Amino acid sequence: MVHAFGIDNISPYKKKILVVDDYVPTRQMIVDALSDSGYQTIREAGNGKEALGFFRKEHYDLVISDVMMPQMGGMELLQNLKELKPDTAVIMITAQPEVELTVSALKKGAVDFLKKPFNIDDLIYKVHVYLQENNIATHQSYQSDLLLKQIEEKTKELSIHSYIYDSVENIEGSHDEIFEKLATTAMRVVDGEECFLLIYDDETKDFHARVSKSLTNSFNSKLTILSLKYLYHQVIEKGDALMIHSQDHPFVAPSLICSPLMIRDKTFGVLSVRKKKDRGSFAQKDLNYVVSLCKRASLNLENKMLYESLYVNVLDTFKALISSIQVRDQYTEDHSLRVTKLAVRLARGMGCSSGEIESLKISGSLHDLGKVAIPDNVLLKPDRLTNEEYEIIKQHPDTGERILKPVAIFERERTIIRHHHERWDGRGYPAGLSGEDIPLLSRILAMTDTFDAITNNRPYRQAQSVDAAVAEIKKNRGTQFDPLVTDHFLKIL
Ligand SMILES: [Fe+2]
Repeated sequence: MVHAFGIDNISPYKKKILVVDDYVPTRQMIVDALSDSGYQTIREAGNGKEALGFFRKEHYDLVISDVMMPQMGGMELLQNLKELKPDTAVIMITAQPEVELTVSALKKGAVDFLKKPFNIDDLIYKVHVYLQENNIATHQSYQSDLLLKQIEEKTKELSIHSYIYDSVENIEGSHDEIFEKLATTAMRVVDGEECFLLIYDDETKDFHARVSKSLTNSFNSKLTILSLKYLYHQVIEKGDALMIHSQDHPFVAPSLICSPLMIRDKTFGVLSVRKKKDRGSFAQKDLNYVVSLCKRASLNLENKMLYESLYVNVLDTFKALISSIQVRDQYTEDHSLRVTKLAVRLARGMGCSSGEIESLKISGSLHDLGKVAIPDNVLLKPDRLTNEEYEIIKQHPDTGERILKPVAIFERERTIIRHHHERWDGRGYPAGLSGEDIPLLSRILAMTDTFDAITNNRPYRQAQSVDAAVAEIKKNRGTQFDPLVTDHFLKIL
């Protein structure tokens, strides 16, 4: 394209010139000289008004104009031309060149100012120079526009890729939530109208739709999947993405992208995005976006599954530890389950993310893990504890944190556990943190932990009623408990 531009437009002799003068002999002399010099497109006008009329219909690259003319003079014409097309080269000619006029013309954007009588060769030379410059400027601006466009395209692509990256990296929750987000992101980045996420069943050799989304009402997902199944099978067999347009497949109308979803080199599903009716066909870059999205999501899923299997394994080990406390203290295990359940409800009510909820489930079930280190005579003591004994009890959040320390995947949960006995006013333990310095999930656990302790039998006292617990919690709102957490908790009871 750049080359074609150069060949067709680089010659100044092909540029259009408008000669404006009410004095015909001068005008004719200029036109003849330009024509003799090889300029091919020259037009004449008898005054500014006529010239402006021509200019409005057709662009001229260079205008040579007299200053004093009837109806519209050269200065007014100059101003109009610059408003219409600022890069037009204008050479002014006048018999009375006053300094002010010259300055004013140059300020208004004239490239030159010639005094009558002028040397015609001078004028032709200037015309040639200005058209050449104009040519270079146009060429440069064309090239820089092209470059700018390319940069814009690249930036857009990069921002879409980074959007894809962020969207997938930040996906949390169950597999279904991940699939849902994946489908939504795919539709968004390629402006798709319909999207399916299908899981392939190796045994039945069939697909199960996990996500079906459409922007239109006339959407029969079963029928669409049935008609496109042949293509989905191709993706599964080859493990490669494909892009199909309507001419290749009658039901596609007008465009379809299918990308494999893989874990450990095995295709387990297909993500398909389709455009319908008037929204045009997908481009190669759309295919790249969807493939990149699926690859990222597949990697994320693979990690998640690996992580989960490890997670479940390790979690089981710690739950066994908690059970070992149960042998000594029935209360601890049941208490942990109830505290967790209530804490999860409270966290949901407070709008915590699914990641936070998962964290809370772990930290809730393990929050008293440190009690394994408390001797029976203290843990199971039916009477009031001495100060020394209470100090031993107070070590359990730190002990729990220490037990979990070697397990890197429990880093978040470890901190939550460590601070589940902190108080809003800073008088809790072990760190004496206060206010929002205490992790939110620890504040939530502290609330449900206390509620459960009040409403259940302990070795040293009988269970109290829910009303009594509520009264106790209200009394300690803002001292022991986070006021906001308290308010939410009272709502879910
Ligand atoms: Fe505790």
